[in-house]
Amino acid sequence: MTRTSGFQDEDFWTEFHDFLFSEQRHTQAEELLATSPLLSFPTGARVLDLCCGPGVFTVPLARRGHEVTGVDLSSAMLDRARKRTAEAGTEVTYVRADARRYEAPGAFDVVLNMFTSFGYFEDPADNARVLRTMHTCLAPGGTLVLDLAGKELLARKVTPPKVVQRGEDLMVQTDTVLDDWARLRSDWVLVRGERVTRAALVWFVYSAVELRRMVEEAGFGRVEVFGGFDGRPYDQNAERLVLRAVREA
Ligand SMILES: C[S@@+](CC[C@H](N)C(=O)[O-])C[C@H]1O[C@@H](n2cnc3c(N)ncnc32)[C@H](O)[C@@H]1O
Repeated sequence: MTRTSGFQDEDFWTEFHDFLFSEQRHTQAEELLATSPLLSFPTGARVLDLCCGPGVFTVPLARRGHEVTGVDLSSAMLDRARKRTAEAGTEVTYVRADARRYEAPGAFDVVLNMFTSFGYFEDPADNARVLRTMHTCLAPGGTLVLDLAGKELLARKVTPPKVVQRGEDLMVQTDTVLDDWARLRSDWVLVRGERVTRAALVWFVYSAVELRRMVEEAGFGRVEVFGGFDGRPYDQNAERLVLRAVREA
């Protein structure tokens, strides 16, 4: 049995890659970029994809004519992203960096943080620091788009263990609510032939109101919350929590 320790652990992303970054997700990202009013940016916009992973959004953003930088802590994920970028015949600048410490003051028109890539640091001050990185990286007037599974949605979905199958592989996911809904723990067991890998992720879950407050405290203005990339309200029909905010000055 192999055990990986979570969000900052390179082995975790490699082991669970096929479940998290399916070809279907890559295709969906292309479609979202083509249709979502929240992901429509002027051609040539300078876009930072923070925690870019294997390039699910990074690569199609570059194909759409944006000047894209992908930042991630994992070399393995960056290697995959570079490979997809080359296959797509496009260009992206990739940087291996910690989201808390990446520095590029005023260098971007857009910062994206997609697919619940926020809230994983044990110290809440570190999560706040990531928001300040995003703010600092934006030029005045620049836009942040942060996409995650909001607490209100998770409250509906935390159910008994869930089994997902991909080809011959099986993944069992069990979620546990911690600290009066401040955090969630997700235990994953991946069965691949004879090989079994266990992993646990613990992260802070945010309601729309909590996330809005944090984003405002990081210096952002004009904060809006949506329930999906189609711009629907964050109500009982929401599918995601998509927050948009502006660095005003
Ligand atoms: C859920 S994946 C999301 C990937 C991508 N945004 C997407 O939509 O598929 C989170 C990514 O965050 C990266 N990561 C983990 N800790 C990080 C850190 N401290 N700084 C930067 N990236 C980090 C992981 O390596 C992983 O690729």
